[in-house]
Amino acid sequence: MGMNIIPMARPQMGPEELELVASALASGQLAQGERVRQFEDQFAEFVGAPHAVATSSGTTAIHLALLALGIGPGDEVITVAFTFVASATPILHVGARPIFVDVEPRTYAMDPEQLERAITDRTRAIMPVSLYGQPANMPAILEIAERHGLAVIEDACQAHGAELAGRRSGSWGLGVFSFYPTKNMTSGEGGMVTTSDGKIADTVRLLREHGMKVRYHHDLLGYNFRMTDIHASIGLAQLKKLPAANERRRAIAARYTEELVGVLPPDERPGAKPVYHQYTLRVRRRDEFTDGLQARGVGSSVYYPIPVHRQKPFLDIESARVSLPVTERLVEEILSLPVHPSLTDDEVGQVVSATNATAAELGPWVAE
Ligand SMILES: Cc1ncc(COP(=O)(O)O)c(C=O)c1O
Repeated sequence: MGMNIIPMARPQMGPEELELVASALASGQLAQGERVRQFEDQFAEFVGAPHAVATSSGTTAIHLALLALGIGPGDEVITVAFTFVASATPILHVGARPIFVDVEPRTYAMDPEQLERAITDRTRAIMPVSLYGQPANMPAILEIAERHGLAVIEDACQAHGAELAGRRSGSWGLGVFSFYPTKNMTSGEGGMVTTSDGKIADTVRLLREHGMKVRYHHDLLGYNFRMTDIHASIGLAQLKKLPAANERRRAIAARYTEELVGVLPPDERPGAKPVYHQYTLRVRRRDEFTDGLQARGVGSSVYYPIPVHRQKPFLDIESARVSLPVTERLVEEILSLPVHPSLTDDEVGQVVSATNATAAELGPWVAE
């Protein structure tokens, strides 16, 4: 059948990306070099963080942030299970214990009250996730962290340019970002650690490159988690387009929230400017809802159907044997609609009418 389905993402590569990649290739400098440094400087400035260190992915950014904080066996890191698995797998890789707390039902982010109750004398760090492009409650989380002397890593892998109280995601404590192709901006693959702490930034740089500051002198056990100049070139071009792309995402989201009927839209945190990496509803009868959208030419997706504490690598982890009622309910009800900036106004209209028709057919959302 020939119907075109409106897709969940459409990465936009234009002449700016092509030109920068071509000049990187022509220069012969392919691995980490000047382009990576430029990308780090411009990204740090954009976020409002004094330091940014580029990595090979968001996952390796999280891994290095944990290592730079000295987190390892015997330590606990408090995070959420309502996220992509890679928020938590690096906690296992460094040998620490993930402690999962529940999320707020309308912003989908870490519940600060649950956080406070989960702190023990083994807690070393807190990792809230600014999921779908909406900042977690960073002021409340920082206040708790300061009171207990804990580090904070904001997983901002989906929150490039998101703001809360006039500050951008990644400027509170440590921030970690992903530049995977479907993100609000991409480098192909890539990641970034942002921080105001120059010592942490130095340690991340060392760990990223075999513990090496002076060529072939290895000061600590490191990795090759570098970004290439080819990927940084894509990232530089994409960073320039990010503010306009985020504004377009916000405008589409505003129209959805205004016009959708019979579903539960996401809440905006007071004082926040989310960048809508995803626009995520709660619906009844989700499988049928997905089919109803598909039949009307609209793609949709579930991010993510299984919470992290129920994923196979975590089933043998004692600290992951917890019950998280909000998380466990949300994973049954959430559904993300296309919200990427290349949607035309007609496509946005089609998403609205398909969603409203499907909700009317299946019965409206009702609060319990
Ligand atoms: C919330 C979150 N954390 C971590 C990651 C890991 O990033 P990457 O895929 O670049 O390794 C992603 C993205 O995939 C993500 O969405």
